Amino acid sequence: MQQLTNKRILLGITGGIAAYKSAELVRSLKKAGADVRVVMTSGAMEFITPLTLQALSGNPVHHALLDPEAEAGMGHIELAKWADLLLIAPASANFIARLSQGLGDDLLTTVCLATEAPMALAPAMNQAMWKDGTTQQNIERLQNVKGKSLHIFGPDAGEQACGDVGPGRMLDPDLIAAHCADLFESGLLAGINLVVTAGPTREALDPVRYISNHSSGKMGYAIAEAAREAGARVTLITGPVNISAPERVNVECVSSAREMLESSLEQLPQCQIFIAAAAVADYRPLNIANQKIKKSGDTIELKMVKNPDVVATIAQHEQRPFTVGFAAETQDVEDYARGKLEKKNLDMIVANDVSRTDIGFNSDENAATAIWPEGQQAFAAMSKTTLARQLIDLIAQRYQQYTDLSRTNED
Ligand code: C5P
Repeated sequence: MQQLTNKRILLGITGGIAAYKSAELVRSLKKAGADVRVVMTSGAMEFITPLTLQALSGNPVHHALLDPEAEAGMGHIELAKWADLLLIAPASANFIARLSQGLGDDLLTTVCLATEAPMALAPAMNQAMWKDGTTQQNIERLQNVKGKSLHIFGPDAGEQACGDVGPGRMLDPDLIAAHCADLFESGLLAGINLVVTAGPTREALDPVRYISNHSSGKMGYAIAEAAREAGARVTLITGPVNISAPERVNVECVSSAREMLESSLEQLPQCQIFIAAAAVADYRPLNIANQKIKKSGDTIELKMVKNPDVVATIAQHEQRPFTVGFAAETQDVEDYARGKLEKKNLDMIVANDVSRTDIGFNSDENAATAIWPEGQQAFAAMSKTTLARQLIDLIAQRYQQYTDLSRTNED
């Protein structure tokens, strides 16, 4: 069910005895990597408490339509836009009837009307109510609504809570989650844990001053976004930048090279691909003054010490992930980059020529050559977003070969 990684599922729970199974459904969806928010009808709250669903989903539960406070937080339109999929489970006969009439008299029905996301219903009701002609007509009517994509999951047949036997049981929560996963395409990096470092580092001199560089973070941020689009669970370890982080990415803010290393090592146990796009300061001041350094003579001497190499430390670690570095060079770009590939024990390095003023460091465009032990591939100048997508495709291919090779070596 890797397809559910990073997907946003809005789970609508309506009033029926199967509502207790929705707690398990939230767990299954979360386990598969989805971000879940819950909207409950008043009937649902008679069967299961919002607190249970809040604890399991990790998000506040939504209920009221006409509550100014709730609308100020995340109102029905925001919820409708937020969702990649609107899943109603259990969907009661009454709810299906209200939906088929286009009613918008509570939060869940208004979200259903307002969303452009696909919708799925997992009906749950007494077998006679399910077989009833009106319920069947309502389902048919919903399936024929133009412009909406509606899926019906189940119902299952068997023994019911009321003692009847027949169709009307809500499908098993794991099966509902699997059906949800089938609605999404699987990306090249589906379910992979990937870490990206980005931006500059700041090396403090005293409480108010630091040494840094002009890195904008744009390339690393674009890589993080492209990896997420490809289905990866992304952690972005970022130095201070002035751009917004992509959505659905776990962001760790750091300042110095040593903090970046510490944060990277923390991610290592669950990291399968590490991409180092940060412009890490090679040296830091030996001493950080406790007080602001005073203006005195005409010159000042600073003693600097070498910073740890983040990407090399990760690539040489016994738990090393597939590791990709970047190399900004001003001459003999490919030769220097290949040297760094070997020296730092990387699986791939992305080299670019920073002597060119039209592309690179602070610009929106970049050109690059990706180099790995057995080959290389050049990318002409293009937007950093497009380049990031193409690099992620290549990284996914190389990673696939790397894991296939590790498996063969283990056999
Ligand atoms: O050696 P150089 O700085 O050219 O190597 C660049 C690559 O190494 C980049 O991927 C950069 O993020 C990484 N790097 C690092 N830690 C350092 C220096 C560079 O991770 N201290």
